[in-house]
Amino acid sequence: MRLKLRNIFLVYFVVSIFGLLYAVLQLGQPCNCSQILREGRGRHNPVSPKEPGNQGGVDQLPIIYVVTPTYERPHQRAELTRLSQTLLLVPALHWILVEDSLKRSPLVADLLAQSGLHYTHLNVQTPPPMKLKEGEPNWLKPRGVEQRNEALRWLRVNQSPMDRGVVYFADDDNTYSVNIFKEMRHTQKVSVWPVGLVGGLRYEGPLVDKGRVVGFHTAWKTHRPFPIDMAGFAVSLTLLLMHPEARFDPNAERGFLESSLLGQLVSVEDLEPRADNCTKIWVWHTRTEKPKLKQEEALEKLGRGSDPNVLV
Ligand SMILES: *[C@@H]1O[C@H](CO)[C@@H](O)[C@H](O)[C@H]1NC(C)=O
Repeated sequence: MRLKLRNIFLVYFVVSIFGLLYAVLQLGQPCNCSQILREGRGRHNPVSPKEPGNQGGVDQLPIIYVVTPTYERPHQRAELTRLSQTLLLVPALHWILVEDSLKRSPLVADLLAQSGLHYTHLNVQTPPPMKLKEGEPNWLKPRGVEQRNEALRWLRVNQSPMDRGVVYFADDDNTYSVNIFKEMRHTQKVSVWPVGLVGGLRYEGPLVDKGRVVGFHTAWKTHRPFPIDMAGFAVSLTLLLMHPEARFDPNAERGFLESSLLGQLVSVEDLEPRADNCTKIWVWHTRTEKPKLKQEEALEKLGRGSDPNVLV
C-alpha cells in the first residue's frame, strides 16, 4: 500500500513537470500571428467588424476603387496626406491616384509608398488647350477629366467583370466621413447620396420617395440630367466594364461632367439612394484656401528663402 502511494505520487510529479515544461516552452513561442498580419497589413486594409456584409472577412468585400486626380501645388502634399489617412480607415480599398503631369512625381510616389494603402500611381497630362491658365477662374474648364478617364482605362485593362468592386471619384480637397465608404460598398449599378457645401447650397442631393430617387435638391442648372456632384455617387465596377466606351466628356458644358458619364450608364430610376435615403451628409465639397507665400518670395530675393530640401 505504501509503495502504491509512492508510485501515484511519482506519476503525478512527472506529469506536473512535463506540464510545467510545456507551459514554459509555449511562453517563448511566437504566436500564430498569420491572422493578425493578414488583417492588419495583408492584401487589404484592417477589417472593420461593424461594416455590414463583412461576415466573410475582408477578402470577401467588394473592393472600393477610389480615383483621385491631383496636380502639383504648394498644398498638394497636405491634401493627399489628409485624404490618404482617411482612406486608411477603410478596408478593402484601392487608391488610384492620377497626376496631371508628364511624369509621375517623386513627391507623390513617396507619399503613396509610405501611405500603407493599396494603390496605383498613374499620370496623364491635360492637353494644354484644355488646361486652366494661371489666373483663369476654376469654373472655366473642367479639371481632372483626362485623369479620371485614365483611371477608367486602367480599370478596364486590369480588372475583369468577375471582380466585384465599386468606383468612386474622390477629389483630394473634399472631406470624407468613413460612413460614405460603407454606404457605397455594395452598389449594384450607381449609388447616390447628398454632398454638403456645394452648388451654392448647404447641400445638394437626390430627393427620395419610397426608397426611389424622384428628383434632386439643387438650385443651379436644374436641367442637368444628373445634377450630382462628383463626390455624390459611386459606380459598380461591373457596370463600368459592361460599358467599355463610357467615360467623362472633356468638352462637357460646365456642370455636365458627371452627367456625361452617368448618362451612358444608368437612368435616374436606376439610382440607388444611400445615406439613410439621402438624409445624411457624409461628404463635403470643401475647398482649401490657396496658401499665401508672399514672404517666401521676399526672403528668396534676400537669399534667405526656406530650405528647398524640406518637403512641405
Ligand atoms: C428608405 O425608405 C424606404 C421606403 O420608405 C424604407 O423602406 C427604407 O427602410 C428606408 N431606408 C433607410 C436606410 O432609412
